[in-house]
Amino acid sequence: MSRRILVTAALPYANGHIHLGHLVEYIQTDIWVRFQKLRGNTCRYFCADDTHGTAIMIRARQENRSEEELIAEMKEAHLADFTGFQIEFDNYGSTNSPENLEACKIIWKALRAAGLVSEKDVTQLFDPEAGTFLADRFVKGTCPKCGAVDQYGDNCEKCGATYSPGELIDPVSTLTGAKPEERTASHLFVNIEKLHDFLEEWTQSGEHLQKEVANYLKGHFLGEPLRDWDISRPAPYFGFEIPDAPGHYWYVWFDAPIGYIGSTWQWCKENNEGLSKYWQSSDTEIHHFIGKDITYFHTLFWPAMLKVAGFNLPTKVHIHGFLNVDGGKMSKSRGTFIMARTYLNHLDPACLRYYFASKLNSKLDDIDLNLQEFTEKVNADLVGKVVNIASRCAKFISGNTLGDVYPEDGGRFQQAAEAGDRIAELYEQCEYSQAMREILQLAEVANKFVEDAQPWLLRKDQEKQGQLRDVCTIALNLFRQVVIYLSPVLPELAKKTGELLNDTLSGWEQSKTPLTGNRVNKFSHMMKRIEEEQVQKMVEESREAETNEETESQDTPAIAENWNDSAQPLIDEPLAEECTIDDFMKVDLRVARIVEANHVEGADKLLQLTLSLGGETTRNVFAGIKAAYAPEDLVGRLVVCVANLKPRKMRFGLSEGMICASGPGGKDVFLLAPDTGALPGQRVH
Ligand code: MSP
Ligand code: ZN
Repeated sequence: MSRRILVTAALPYANGHIHLGHLVEYIQTDIWVRFQKLRGNTCRYFCADDTHGTAIMIRARQENRSEEELIAEMKEAHLADFTGFQIEFDNYGSTNSPENLEACKIIWKALRAAGLVSEKDVTQLFDPEAGTFLADRFVKGTCPKCGAVDQYGDNCEKCGATYSPGELIDPVSTLTGAKPEERTASHLFVNIEKLHDFLEEWTQSGEHLQKEVANYLKGHFLGEPLRDWDISRPAPYFGFEIPDAPGHYWYVWFDAPIGYIGSTWQWCKENNEGLSKYWQSSDTEIHHFIGKDITYFHTLFWPAMLKVAGFNLPTKVHIHGFLNVDGGKMSKSRGTFIMARTYLNHLDPACLRYYFASKLNSKLDDIDLNLQEFTEKVNADLVGKVVNIASRCAKFISGNTLGDVYPEDGGRFQQAAEAGDRIAELYEQCEYSQAMREILQLAEVANKFVEDAQPWLLRKDQEKQGQLRDVCTIALNLFRQVVIYLSPVLPELAKKTGELLNDTLSGWEQSKTPLTGNRVNKFSHMMKRIEEEQVQKMVEESREAETNEETESQDTPAIAENWNDSAQPLIDEPLAEECTIDDFMKVDLRVARIVEANHVEGADKLLQLTLSLGGETTRNVFAGIKAAYAPEDLVGRLVVCVANLKPRKMRFGLSEGMICASGPGGKDVFLLAPDTGALPGQRVH
């Protein structure tokens, strides 16, 4: 049975260009969509630019042009970047579209009818020069707690304090440098507390959200009454004026998620389909892909709006972590704040698609783009293992045809065909890194086959031309299977393989039947090795580029505020007996780096870890985290270890410590990780 699936990625802000962090998401989603299409499902990928808000308004003013002109230009730039990375949308709209306005009106009407809207006064900082209210992020000043200068209006990066912009000492508007003043205006609020029970059930059902997310919502929001949601802004504001409340504009985060519907609607109009088929029919699945910073909007506010308006609720919200580069936040000065365009100036998009796929799983952990590893991995896997299969044998058969009957191959093709269901399930569950591992294993089998069969020797022997053809038929078929499995990640490679074999790779099931009798064309380059120099040049160009880190995330009420919410986390285990600081200090906790991680033969729960405590000091530790972590994802990570724990002899060897983690066990184990900057060996206290 073919499924009908609507997929979205978050709508990028129109006030900044696409960078590699964004691409984690758009590539993750594109892979999922391509996979669904390949499986024969009806799947549509909708996205749009998120165009409203103060940031765009101010920028348009500064550039002396209309907001419309500015957002049109950005949309073009975004699309060019996405296309460059082979990200294919079925529709790419804009939140500033007539369809979106219509959709907003429908949802608004429903909220009004349900009696959920109320009006209240709000006092905010106001920039008298720009004539506009200031979101927290547009105010800087001195931290009222620790005195650090140049801190944002919502929290201090030095001491971590959170406060309201009014409390800042010597505040200045980042828009004009003017001294902001406090002003009061009326705002409209949505009372989502009325949907508390529904949200509790929807978020905790175990069906729609990752477990970490459900727990987070329960611990930070659902344990107490949900606060009213401020969804309007007074003029001047670039956005939609609220039809029944002149002078009030919908806050950008109101019409942004509705943009998913707006974009769908635009596509429906162009394709003569009804919107209700996608948003109001029970046989369409809705999948949102987002980053963890915008969790609140998509898991509480958005389902509430949909529920009230009688639209379908998301089947799943898939949330991913953030991208770091070389172990730290993307940074301009280090040249690791890399724009999509800069990458494309130097490197093949397929390499990044593959690298991200090899790192992504269904969890919320941040992922690290390690540039050294990126080069090595792409070269070893794609060039060395995948393309190598074809490049080593296609030339011996090009111009000729594959055998008419698929030769006996020792069960290799059959085995790879059987792996297809397992690999498909991994894609379905967003466990791409595991899927890549399985596929690469198949590539290794094929490579070994070519190596053992040595077609380059057969070629020289007139008597062995039939055998040569068999070897090439087998090798190219094994190659084709690998490429089919990789094609959601590497569509270009699939296309080139199709060209080589006079075939179209367009369905997952093609991996089950060998190709015979097809003419083989001349082999042309499929993928080039990455040279370190290319990466260096990209980093240099990024260092020089005028990227504006600060305007990247605008107008979003800092989720940080929410992640640190003062609400009580759930305690599901009674607290241990009181202890003194001396008791605590008996336990020597140290920052450690996992330098090696391995499976342990005969142990179904344990991984063997080698921890570095700095210098030459290492510890051998057996940790019961096998169900939750793959060894290769652990190497390089910082953890916290109990460094003075009495060593314990286990069946598998001596365990010289313990690493700290939370969670009930099994798949639900969450390692403690120090923030970037911590060093192995440092004591934790
Ligand atoms: N406009 C909002 C989304 C509205 S959706 C109704 C927004 N835009 S954004 O441009 O800041 O981010 C777009 C997506 O990219 C978000 O899901 C965000 O989490 C993701 N990422 C932005 N920077 C990222 C990284 N450095 N790493 C991974 N994902 C990141 O939020
Ligand atoms: Zn401070």
